[in-house]
Amino acid sequence: MEQHNLDTKIAALREMMKAYTALDEDYDSDQEKGLAQPPLEKGSIGTNIIALTKDFSNIIKTNDFLTILNNRTSRRKYSETPMQIDELAFLLWATQGIKHVAAGKVRKATIRTVPSAGARHPFETYLFVKNVNDLAPGLYHYIALEHQLEFVGSMDRLVDRLTEAYAGQEFFGEAAVDFVWTVVPYRSEWRYTTKAQKYALIDVGHVCQNLYLACEAIGCGTCAVGAYDQALADGLLGLDTNPSCNLENEFVVYAAPVGKLD
Ligand SMILES: Cc1cc2nc3c(=O)[nH]c(=O)nc-3n(C[C@H](O)[C@H](O)[C@H](O)COP(=O)(O)O)c2cc1C
Repeated sequence: MEQHNLDTKIAALREMMKAYTALDEDYDSDQEKGLAQPPLEKGSIGTNIIALTKDFSNIIKTNDFLTILNNRTSRRKYSETPMQIDELAFLLWATQGIKHVAAGKVRKATIRTVPSAGARHPFETYLFVKNVNDLAPGLYHYIALEHQLEFVGSMDRLVDRLTEAYAGQEFFGEAAVDFVWTVVPYRSEWRYTTKAQKYALIDVGHVCQNLYLACEAIGCGTCAVGAYDQALADGLLGLDTNPSCNLENEFVVYAAPVGKLD
């Protein structure tokens, strides 16, 4: 890419990082236009619904917040010991768990264990399970409103395909489970139009940070992963990779492998 083109591209991307100001062009949002609010989460896409516990008393190894903070680090080596479903339940709760649904007359919002601009929570959580007791390997989707997992399907060559899609990072392919977060931009754009994209990227950082802290509390490790091939990662979830502005557009924004520590 020519230097001039690169500079122009970087300048445009930096603009996206800035606060929206009164000087910016203003658009009426779909919310202001009175259009219906999009769903709080994606509908069911799988089978074999698995109810998850909210009783985490048996799996927490440390409640000491300072210890958790001081120990938090990116961990890329995991033991071969299988994870337990209840541990997954805790990590899903910590990252996207819904504490309650705030229901107004015309709009609803989910109040979760993580913050999100305007409580839009424009994410879906998928798990690539490889080494979890009582769960067949394959792709799962978290139904946050019900605190349930659903089985989406099994996959051939799962470890190899994950490693390939996630920039050749072998620790991602080999982890007991991979968390993959997609963004559903319209869930936030409905209200925030051109501010939604920045907010979503900030929001997803909170999600992954909670995963780090929750992992430390239960003797597991994780590592944020932002290096991946967009088309391959979306393809593994069966998502359309076309970055069009249709309302259902959904694509991968962040991921994190998880495994037990020795
Ligand atoms: C947005 C983001 C993307 C990252 N992507 C990767 C990645 O793809 N692969 C990787 O090994 N580490 C990745 N990391 C982890 C960082 O390398 C790590 O946080 C950094 O080296 C500091 O180490 P610490 O987390 O142990 O403090 C990412 C971290 C963040 C916050």
